Amino acid sequence: MTADIIDGKAFAAGLRARIATEVGGLATRGLVPGLAVVLVGEDPASKVYVGSKERLAREAGMISTVHRLPADTAQADLLALIATLNADPSIHGILVQLPLPAGLDPQAVVMAIDPAKDVDGLHPINVGNLTIGAPALVPCTPSGCMMLLRDRLGDLSGARAVVVGRSGLMGKPMAQLLLAANCTVTVAHSRTRDLSEVCRTADILVAAVGRPRMIGGDWIRPGATVIDVGINRLPPEPGQEKGRLVGDVDFDAARAVAAAITPVPGGVGPMTIACLLDNTVEAACRAAG
Ligand code: GUN
Repeated sequence: MTADIIDGKAFAAGLRARIATEVGGLATRGLVPGLAVVLVGEDPASKVYVGSKERLAREAGMISTVHRLPADTAQADLLALIATLNADPSIHGILVQLPLPAGLDPQAVVMAIDPAKDVDGLHPINVGNLTIGAPALVPCTPSGCMMLLRDRLGDLSGARAVVVGRSGLMGKPMAQLLLAANCTVTVAHSRTRDLSEVCRTADILVAAVGRPRMIGGDWIRPGATVIDVGINRLPPEPGQEKGRLVGDVDFDAARAVAAAITPVPGGVGPMTIACLLDNTVEAACRAAG
């Protein structure tokens, strides 16, 4: 078997085009969704992600601001900026890029964001609402994974889903979303016993561990749908300036076993920003009543 490639890049481009049309319609009613991104420090990957968020939000017709703060920013100053953004009626979505530099408390920062503007879906109010099935702002990466899965498989009811990874941004909300879609969900992680065997039970395998190519072809059930959330940079080959980007799944090996798989890059990654824009429009519409 050679798995179909799930083209997240094309899906995300289509979603952004639909969002741009919606934003155009809102603008005629005087509502321009506004996204504020806060970047603290100089993490190179975060700088790239934040630059893309800023550009794509503008391209969709939104107000897009980035607050770039030095790595030695005091917690009180960061909280003061969040309070200002919470009170600004032109801003409907606030995202503080993670990870934060050492010395800043990410949990306190997330708790300070108005839940109605928490487009990352990390505030306990949004986490709780997702868990009880109430309307919530949902973390962008798992939301994007669900869109790709629904597009590929339609109804997910009854599928056995294994999520490898238990982070608040990805693994935990992914499990909630799959459960809400009537999957039978297992959340596995680095301490899971017989991890490869657990993965082999999956009709839907979602890998979000941050370890390059950890999941081999023999971990995958024949015919499974594989969603690879990992974005890992390998060390550079001789003569190269930068190493290749690879996922958490050994793509070539998995392609011979799975029915469908997301590539890295060009799979889940582009969906994250498209879903961020989607969340910002949703927050703006809710704020406008
Ligand atoms: N760092 C990597 N992914 C994300 C994300 O989705 N949101 C935030 N805030 N930081 C991230």
